[in-house]
Amino acid sequence: MPFTTSSFLPRLTELLPQLSLPTACALAAFSLVCYKTIGRWRRSSPYKHISGPKASSKLGYLLDLHNPEGLDWHFQMTEKHGHVAKLDGGLMGPEALYVTDPAALHAILVKDHDMFRESTEFAGLFGVIHHGDGLASVYGDEHKKQRKLVDPIFTTTRISRLTPLFYNVTRQLQASLNADLADKPQGHEIDILDRLVRTTLELIAQGGLGHTFNSFDHNSQEFMDFHWAITSVLPIGSQLFLFLPYLQSWRRMEPVWLRRFLAQAVTYLPWSAPREFKKACDTMHPVYQKLLDEKKELYEGGGMSALEESATGGKDLMTILFKSNWEAAKDERMPDDVVVANMGYVSRYRPISARADQSSPPPPSPPLPARHRSVVHGAQETTSGALSRFISLLALKPELQARLRDELRAARENKGGDEEDFDFHELNNLPLLDAVCRETLRLFTPVTFVWRQTIEDTVVPLQYPIRDEATGKVTNELLITKGTAVYLGLAAANRSTAIWGADAGEFRPERWMGKAGHDLASATAEGKGTRLPGLYSNMMTFLGGPRGCPGMRFAVHEIKLVLAVLLQSYSFERSAQDIDWKLYITLTPYAEGDTSGPKVPVKVTMLEKH
Ligand code: HEM
Repeated sequence: MPFTTSSFLPRLTELLPQLSLPTACALAAFSLVCYKTIGRWRRSSPYKHISGPKASSKLGYLLDLHNPEGLDWHFQMTEKHGHVAKLDGGLMGPEALYVTDPAALHAILVKDHDMFRESTEFAGLFGVIHHGDGLASVYGDEHKKQRKLVDPIFTTTRISRLTPLFYNVTRQLQASLNADLADKPQGHEIDILDRLVRTTLELIAQGGLGHTFNSFDHNSQEFMDFHWAITSVLPIGSQLFLFLPYLQSWRRMEPVWLRRFLAQAVTYLPWSAPREFKKACDTMHPVYQKLLDEKKELYEGGGMSALEESATGGKDLMTILFKSNWEAAKDERMPDDVVVANMGYVSRYRPISARADQSSPPPPSPPLPARHRSVVHGAQETTSGALSRFISLLALKPELQARLRDELRAARENKGGDEEDFDFHELNNLPLLDAVCRETLRLFTPVTFVWRQTIEDTVVPLQYPIRDEATGKVTNELLITKGTAVYLGLAAANRSTAIWGADAGEFRPERWMGKAGHDLASATAEGKGTRLPGLYSNMMTFLGGPRGCPGMRFAVHEIKLVLAVLLQSYSFERSAQDIDWKLYITLTPYAEGDTSGPKVPVKVTMLEKH
């Protein structure tokens, strides 16, 4: 018999006589509370008129939302259920909403963003990881104040100045690939994910922090330790989900000795997760603190010119942040612990691969309640994941690789020489590379969805009206009641046929080319009505509004530059195994049939100089 609340209660009454009195009373009380609570959720649903997917189990939508194999559930949401769908909470909690409607997204992310907050669990988790209140842990005016200092470090000019640093690192990637390919036959198979993880860590270390982890040196202990910490901290943190609701209040707890005592006490539990979590945080924090102290010492000794003499010429993002913070008015300045927390956050990348040099990979995280996991997921996807997606896609399309190579060759010839390095603007003026970049980031959005929760009842407008199946009534606004979990479907919005046309699910870089492509990329949400409020060509990939990704230019420049170098030197072919992208905390690639850890095997051939 299927399990229903109405079949469960009679069965329970049959069982009661066989149980001891206290157990029976406890069970009966528990059942009554559950029954009443579920009944209340169902009766009081403000979303009766909205349709949505049926949860695949009585436990409600959470398992579907986080199903590692469930990417299609997200991709199909809007096509099957419209731009606002209701998610059934089942026994686990109240209903939630899944939103991809452009006007509603604009209200949630831009106009009424203060009404739609990220979770305190997320704020607490990142506050602990980074030992302070960085961007991820603050709201409202404090968030605004920090963004005012952080945003200027990501301007086009600042990012374009990082180009030589980016080339230095990418040449190390090239040297490492060349060493692997030397004396090997054409089409030698390489796990490109491992190389791209090293590349992106080194790019953010040098470009973001002004530091090197010597990531391409297979004996670098600092790389191995930091890489272990940064790859493990979120998966391990997600195992601590029972503690997450208390982390934010623990961080503020007085007296301090009690706070420290509790932190120490959990490490004595017969459970390795708290110890490992602490170890990962304690591995990363001293690196950031040391870098800040070094910059401070240099600045105090010799001012900005001393910083400019450092290895990065003072161009790394943290030196710029440090300087502008130092020069800001006293009441606008961030304290040191906040700068350190933002170093962690800004430099946070989301490595996809397992710990390449460690004996065992961090365990895949169990499904977390959405409020923990989705915001963690939504915070930032790695450029290493995005880059391996590009390479695995190009490996399937030799003719597209050839066209991209032709474009790069023509651009080189235009420059009048053999110079392979392009500056920021030259890279941006390559229409096919740009189109491939946009189309891949549209169709394979690294962050599938993000999570918000209403702090007050709020009415949002709808671009695509909702039709009540029962009454036929059509509404073009939606009341989202206080406390509702709202999932913003970034991938689903990027694939909506109503927004992008009938071929929305196809990989068609040409849509971004020519006049039509230019119009598509530059249309504004206000101007065109149906456009999404995203930062990047109105796509939702990097989100939009005050919490949109400040690292967008960094990421796109990095992706284009690494691709340009790789395409000029190598050709890529698919390996015998397909790549299966699973929805863990981030989208994680596995080689089909290989469960040993994330991998992207591709056949690589070194090209003759041409
Ligand atoms: C392809 C690569 C990337 C993607 C797809 C991406 C996407 C996102 C998304 C969707 C968010 C919003 C999360 C939320 O509100 O729940 C975000 C936030 C953020 N990202 Fe990125 N990101 C990428 C790369 C980067 C890079 C390279 C950096 C730094 C150099 C960066 C720094 C940040 C920061 C600091 C925030 C927090 C902003 C805030 O809370 O105000 N991201 N990113």
